[in-house]
Amino acid sequence: MLSERALPAAVVDLDALERNVDRLVEALGEGPTTLRIASKSVRHPGLLRRILDRCGSRGRGLLCYSAEEAALLAREGFDDLLIAYPIAGAPAARIVASLVAGGHRVWATVDCSEQVQLIAEAAAEAGTIVELCLDIDLSWRPLGGVVHLGVRRSPIRSGASAIHLAEAVAEQPAVRLTAVLAYEAAVAGVQDRNPGSRLLDPIRGLIKRRSRPLAVARRREILESLWGIGIVPEVVNGGGTGSVSSTASDPLVTEVAAGSGFLCPHLFDGYRGLELEPAVFFALPVVRRSDPDHVTCFGGGYVASGAAGRDRLPRVHCPRGLTPVELEGFGEVQTPLRWRGQGAAPGLGEPVVCRHAKAGELAERFSTYLLARGDRIEAEEPTYRGLGGSFG
Ligand SMILES: Cc1ncc(COP(=O)(O)O)c(C=O)c1O
Repeated sequence: MLSERALPAAVVDLDALERNVDRLVEALGEGPTTLRIASKSVRHPGLLRRILDRCGSRGRGLLCYSAEEAALLAREGFDDLLIAYPIAGAPAARIVASLVAGGHRVWATVDCSEQVQLIAEAAAEAGTIVELCLDIDLSWRPLGGVVHLGVRRSPIRSGASAIHLAEAVAEQPAVRLTAVLAYEAAVAGVQDRNPGSRLLDPIRGLIKRRSRPLAVARRREILESLWGIGIVPEVVNGGGTGSVSSTASDPLVTEVAAGSGFLCPHLFDGYRGLELEPAVFFALPVVRRSDPDHVTCFGGGYVASGAAGRDRLPRVHCPRGLTPVELEGFGEVQTPLRWRGQGAAPGLGEPVVCRHAKAGELAERFSTYLLARGDRIEAEEPTYRGLGGSFG
């Protein structure tokens, strides 16, 4: 399938992608809860479109990560864009305001009054009203907050702090609070089995078990506080790939965000009860052989973000029997691999297929993805990078 293609190349298995969409929709259960697609974990308009289409009535909108990105997606024909990360500069606030003034439904996420003020000014300047989404922190902070277990996101972690910010929103005529975002990262983004640090699995398990009821209780506390001052958010967003069914079972949640699970990079192996298939790969060409039991590929240094560790490195998917060389790893320009497989090592020009640790970041390395069905490339379509979009 790749013999006529220039390598390195990124390849998506559309059949596996579609099966992953079906599995995540099934994980939502029977209720009215919808899936919002986390665009950062895809970064490819053609795939976002296919995923939303496949979700049908169980899909609603995109969870974006920047105003500039939302503008690109609006140009590509998407709507219902919830920007899930705060905006702290006037240029970005103006982009949001102009999208809304142009007729798009876009939310800006806030967790402090300065952000509210900034967006309100841009909205007033554009003569429009921008909808805001309140970001709630769901980390577990035992011992009176001395210990912090979870990600560091918002300072809003009580009904009182939510009311305080909601009142700051109410003072501004050009903004309106209509959504709440409550992402339980300690449940949704943490593997049950991490092959790189098995000894920590029980501790991660304990934090996950404790974080689930905490998320439900904090969402309820904050929503009841907002209802008490007459604010009934239309959208209550929660979760991520690793928590679709548990988050969807909270009756206060209207939608669950998911992105990584559609493509299933290798950090999404090892979730109990979530059987997903790898759907995105990159293929590196063998360009030389320094020794009979080694092959060297062109490219490969596509290391994922997050706390630096072995789990952020790519993994060879096939042929089986190739492992990175300890002292060189996946290199900037070339990646030597030791061959311990059956028969002859792959020859010059042959592809070595690898998986990235994360779902969206590969799109920052390639301008197009090859979209495969069975053993045929069905299409080649641009990533954000291919469309000139680079948003950090
Ligand atoms: C706000 C928010 N929701 C959901 C997610 C989950 O996305 P994914 O399904 O790609 O893990 C993330 C990921 O970081 C996020 O920041």
